[in-house]
Amino acid sequence: MKITSAEFVASAVKAANYPAGELAEVALAGRSNVGKSSLLNKVVNRKALARTSNTPGRTRLINFFLINGQFHLVDLPGYGYARVSASERENWGKMIESYLTGRKNLKGILLLIDSRHPPTAQDIQVFGWFKDNGIPVAVVATKADKMSRSKLLRSMQTIRKELPLAGEDMLTPFSAETGQGREELLSIIEQWVNI
Ligand code: GTP
Ligand code: MG
Repeated sequence: MKITSAEFVASAVKAANYPAGELAEVALAGRSNVGKSSLLNKVVNRKALARTSNTPGRTRLINFFLINGQFHLVDLPGYGYARVSASERENWGKMIESYLTGRKNLKGILLLIDSRHPPTAQDIQVFGWFKDNGIPVAVVATKADKMSRSKLLRSMQTIRKELPLAGEDMLTPFSAETGQGREELLSIIEQWVNI
């Protein structure tokens, strides 16, 4: 798939504000600061379409982007950000859960895991939840440029073992710096949105 256009469509907290229509969607999930917004930008070849930041908790709303006029990529706020209040965390949970359980357009989720660290308890929980709910999920090991080749391979094995991934589950190393893994993600997205 070639990316020919990418534009911001909407930010939403609740279903009433999701874009109307039937376009297929692929969402980006993962803990805060793991690189979701950076991945989106790299995949669609745009430097600053989705806002990124050194500070965790940058993305606070569900952001919808229209790609090639054909499907949406959906940038979700990250989980596991310690410096938010309990009530904010609860609101976050509700916002994400109602999107993930209620959105008919959702065709698959890219779950991002930081390749430099083993999966967190929340990563494991979230992955299990996607599986239990029958949502297609592909795992992405982010920030691959920060690792040596051998460390990256070891880290991928740890991710496979701890989530745990079944043999057929996809795991793609990715770097928003170098573009490593971009083509593979595009082909996963292409299959999900069926275009
Ligand atoms: P939230 O919106 O807070 O949930 O974070 P996010 O998952 O969207 O992360 P974001 O894309 O904002 O990236 C967080 C930080 O990691 C930024 O400083 C990025 O520049 C950096 N980063 C993201 N991806 C990569 C990567 O592949 N390589 C390197 N070296 N840095 C990255
Ligand atoms: Mg973000």
